[in-house]
Amino acid sequence: MYLTNEEEKILDGEMGEVQERMFRLLVRLGDIYNADKMIKVGSVQVAGVSYKSIGDPGTEFLEDMSSKNTKVKVLTYLNPAGMDLENWEKIGFPKNFAKNQLRIINAFKKMGIIITSTCTPYLAGNLPRFREHIAWSESSAVSFSNSVIGARTNREGGPSALAAAICGRTANYGLHLWENRQPNILIKVKTELNYNSDFGSLGYLVGKTVKNKIPYFTGIKDADTDHLKALGAAMAASGAVALYHIEGLTPEADLVNTKGLEKIEIGKEELNDTFEKLNSNEKPDIVIFGCPHASIREISSICEKINGKKLKKPLWICTSRLMKEAADRMGYTEIINTAGGQIVADTCMVVSPIEKMGFNKTGVNSGKAADYLPGFCKQKVIFANIDKLIEEAI
Ligand code: F3S
Repeated sequence: MYLTNEEEKILDGEMGEVQERMFRLLVRLGDIYNADKMIKVGSVQVAGVSYKSIGDPGTEFLEDMSSKNTKVKVLTYLNPAGMDLENWEKIGFPKNFAKNQLRIINAFKKMGIIITSTCTPYLAGNLPRFREHIAWSESSAVSFSNSVIGARTNREGGPSALAAAICGRTANYGLHLWENRQPNILIKVKTELNYNSDFGSLGYLVGKTVKNKIPYFTGIKDADTDHLKALGAAMAASGAVALYHIEGLTPEADLVNTKGLEKIEIGKEELNDTFEKLNSNEKPDIVIFGCPHASIREISSICEKINGKKLKKPLWICTSRLMKEAADRMGYTEIINTAGGQIVADTCMVVSPIEKMGFNKTGVNSGKAADYLPGFCKQKVIFANIDKLIEEAI
């Protein structure tokens, strides 16, 4: 792989032991994937933030890195943590868990990483531009930035994202290259999609069907960014899809080659079957929205639908701290709290220890959460649209 003089110096340890170690990791990855060179990245998003996911070994590793005066070189955000970093006690997160979670957060902060803890960095001040090279980790954020924004990132693991942040670079391979962003399967959607859960159901089904491929959708007439984040998140979860194109909607759809692609049709029946498959048909003991983290539009729409009624079951809306603050200002948080629900920032239903907080059956409108909750949190899932879930909670 070609390395600049500056990069050679990093590799020779002239910039310190940590940079050398991190850069070696990036070069090794580049060699494995036949990268021709390193490229500078505009921003990084680091996953592996929740104490539930990384435990003591991960926490000690991060504390060790931060104790060596390690600093990131580019704008670096964090994936959701395992709890609301401010209101954890009030919401009921276990004390010991919180103590360890805060150690992790402090280590990241010492390295200059912005403590945003969100899987929607693009809604919270980290918005890449079209064709910008970035190194992001969380699968739904990777999907959104590649597909909806047209930025370029592979799905980084926790260590490689941290290495990219510390070195300001990543190896030039995979989805950084235009030739690897071409679709390899065509999905013709033959049904209307209205709710986020419809997009989540479609995403789950397509992910399961195409596994790792790059789908090109036709027949999706309209979709806002909330719909697209729901679609991408579910596809990433069920099939590791890191990039998709939608005719007329996403920025690279007019530029890629769709000739001769294998074609799959998906209609109402297939979507209904997917709903059935993801649904345990139990009654939820909690309803949680915000996978991926809720936008202010989603929070406002939940408020409208609750419409002053009292909730009989716990209801959380997971979101970033920034969206929560906008919700505070708009009076949405007060509306949700008065009804008996909570806006929970910095975390989500999957990376927080909900199974240790007395919840066994969770209602969600997210295809990704429906896919992950049984395995990661031992939950029975009630997968439905927002209207049905709010009805359940009321
Ligand atoms: Fe985000 Fe958690 Fe879903 S990280 S995409 S809210 S599983």
